[in-house]
Amino acid sequence: MSLCFSSLVFNLHSAKNQSFITRFSSQFTHQTSKVSSVLSAFSPSCPVNLSEVLNFRTDILKPISASSNPVAEITNPPLFRRKNPKDINILVVGATGYIGKFVVKELVNREFNVIAIARENSGIRGKVSKDETLKELKGANVCFSDVADLGVFDKCLEDLGVSIDVVVSCLASRSGGVKDSWKIDYEATKNSLVASRKRGASHFVLLSAICVQKPLLEFQRAKLKFESELIREAEEDNGFSYSIVRPTAFFKSLGGQVELVKDGKPYVMFGDGKLCVCKPISEADLVSFIADCVLSENKINQVLPIGGPGKALTPLEQGELLFRLVGREPKFLKVPIEIMDFAIGVLDFLVRVFPSMEDTAEFGKIGRYYAAESMLVLDPETGEYNAEKTPSYGKDTLEEFFETVLREGMAGQELGEQTIF
Ligand SMILES: NC(=O)c1ccc[n+]([C@@H]2O[C@H](COP(=O)([O-])OP(=O)(O)OC[C@H]3O[C@@H](n4cnc5c(N)ncnc54)[C@H](OP(=O)(O)O)[C@@H]3O)[C@@H](O)[C@H]2O)c1
Repeated sequence: MSLCFSSLVFNLHSAKNQSFITRFSSQFTHQTSKVSSVLSAFSPSCPVNLSEVLNFRTDILKPISASSNPVAEITNPPLFRRKNPKDINILVVGATGYIGKFVVKELVNREFNVIAIARENSGIRGKVSKDETLKELKGANVCFSDVADLGVFDKCLEDLGVSIDVVVSCLASRSGGVKDSWKIDYEATKNSLVASRKRGASHFVLLSAICVQKPLLEFQRAKLKFESELIREAEEDNGFSYSIVRPTAFFKSLGGQVELVKDGKPYVMFGDGKLCVCKPISEADLVSFIADCVLSENKINQVLPIGGPGKALTPLEQGELLFRLVGREPKFLKVPIEIMDFAIGVLDFLVRVFPSMEDTAEFGKIGRYYAAESMLVLDPETGEYNAEKTPSYGKDTLEEFFETVLREGMAGQELGEQTIF
């Protein structure tokens, strides 16, 4: 054990096992360079008795129903619902993210008046310049500001001098780290609510994630806290409403192994390949659903879990699909899930000694979560994930997405610093 343990410490930030780990993590649909660097510490051949060293909590919190909140009746529909789209001002925060960009485009195509908030250096690792952002968000009124700072953001809206009808938030921490999750998934999102309410906003569309049903991670707790405050706001003011969208996995999160399999490598999955089932949804279908939430009265004051069309897929089935498309015999590399448990046990221990490793430990937990948890509705009665109860929307299939990636690569589907549900 000590040998393995010290190799863990030495390798914590090593890229030694990077390619294995990248594939490793892409199987469970959650990629992060930081998670990868954490996982890179673990050699699957480590001769340790995992059950002996494991001190990992396997109990889970009580499942939270995805759609248990009652639909409040709107007795006095806000004025914006009677206006033409071009007269409806929609504030989009998180406009420069993977989904946010597509949301802006969809809302512009639907002829709404879109005010998109962006940072001066946006995108993954701040690599996108102001000019590029303006091009990406064409058709929207782009306002460069800092939504994480309420004073600055409020002033920006004041200078803009327009009222807001609807807010669409696609904000998310880019790292998934503990403090950043609270700063963005909770505080910055709350800032957008506070500042826009001052300017008349009467509907808030929140892009959340289906995994918040079983909140074991900080970003999930941060998202849930905001969700509950948003719901309370609507309960206290009958003229205000929300739509909380909780999607399953995005296609991009499942595409990480396509090119590797094309190059003859095996498909990597955890356990028997039947953990972490999902009903993946394309970004095009998801943004269409999000845009529907602006005006659809049947989406008012609802928590909306949403997946793509077709049946739910296990990683094993995703791998089989991929091998069929490349025309080769399936070749799988099955990784025991206990490796992740071991990782978390060690990281939990280390963080007690080195509190500065808080985020590293959190990335380990994020990795474990997506290796084992399904992205489906969690049935509150049975406590089990339920594919039938996970609504489907749209028309794009994972098979079509894999075909596109096989043809054109993953360009435009960059996984970024992290990809969390
Ligand atoms: N990946 C999946 O399969 C999946 C599935 C279900 C749900 N989801 C959820 O979908 C949501 C959106 O995901 P995504 O992939 O579109 O996210 P993303 O690409 O990481 O975008 C995050 C957005 O938040 C902004 N942001 C982050 N930190 C900020 C800061 N400090 N100040 C100001 N803005 C900041 C980013 O702005 P910059 O461009 O300036 O950084 C960007 O616009 C997340 O909540 C995620 O949990 C994901």
